[in-house]
Amino acid sequence: MTKVYIVVPGERMADNGPAFDDFADYYDMADIDRAPETAFYRTLIGDGARSLLELCCGTGTITIPMAEKLLKSGEPGARIVGVDESDRMLDIARRRALQIEWIKGDMRDPPVKGPFDVVVCCFHGFQLLLSNDDLLQAFRAVRAVMSTEGFLHSMSISPIFSF
Ligand SMILES: C[S@@+](CC[C@H](N)C(=O)[O-])C[C@H]1O[C@@H](n2cnc3c(N)ncnc32)[C@H](O)[C@@H]1O
Repeated sequence: MTKVYIVVPGERMADNGPAFDDFADYYDMADIDRAPETAFYRTLIGDGARSLLELCCGTGTITIPMAEKLLKSGEPGARIVGVDESDRMLDIARRRALQIEWIKGDMRDPPVKGPFDVVVCCFHGFQLLLSNDDLLQAFRAVRAVMSTEGFLHSMSISPIFSF
């Protein structure tokens, strides 16, 4: 059966059907080779980084290799959290890495407490928010959980620079 999801501008994706729940089982299979990206994201874990938050973490494709580097560094109190609103994507992530906190939540109001030294939202996560208000809410939420020296890295495909 073919399902078609229609995203209505201005509304969040989840309101338009659990698109990624249905897609989850195929997500990694259908994925392109992410080795170059993974290598890049690992470079974001610098000396002294103790905590990582990935918004829209999906099945953990990027979270896990970043977490491995952070945990290897031996920083005391290391903490890694992935937030996503799809149960099925998180189920798969949990099967892949148990030592990471996988939390169901909306990137605009992630149910996490900071501070985080590194926050990432990769593979066009922010592009799933279709209004300036939603984007602003998400950026404010990131600011609220970021450590003083922390930073956000976001990757977008075909970004719209007008917002
Ligand atoms: C294209 S996937 C990217 C997954 C992962 N970052 C990666 O690079 O493989 C987008 C993810 O965003 C999640 N998502 C969509 N809208 C969301 C929202 N409002 N809050 C949290 N997660 C959301 C989806 O469930 C999906 O897992």
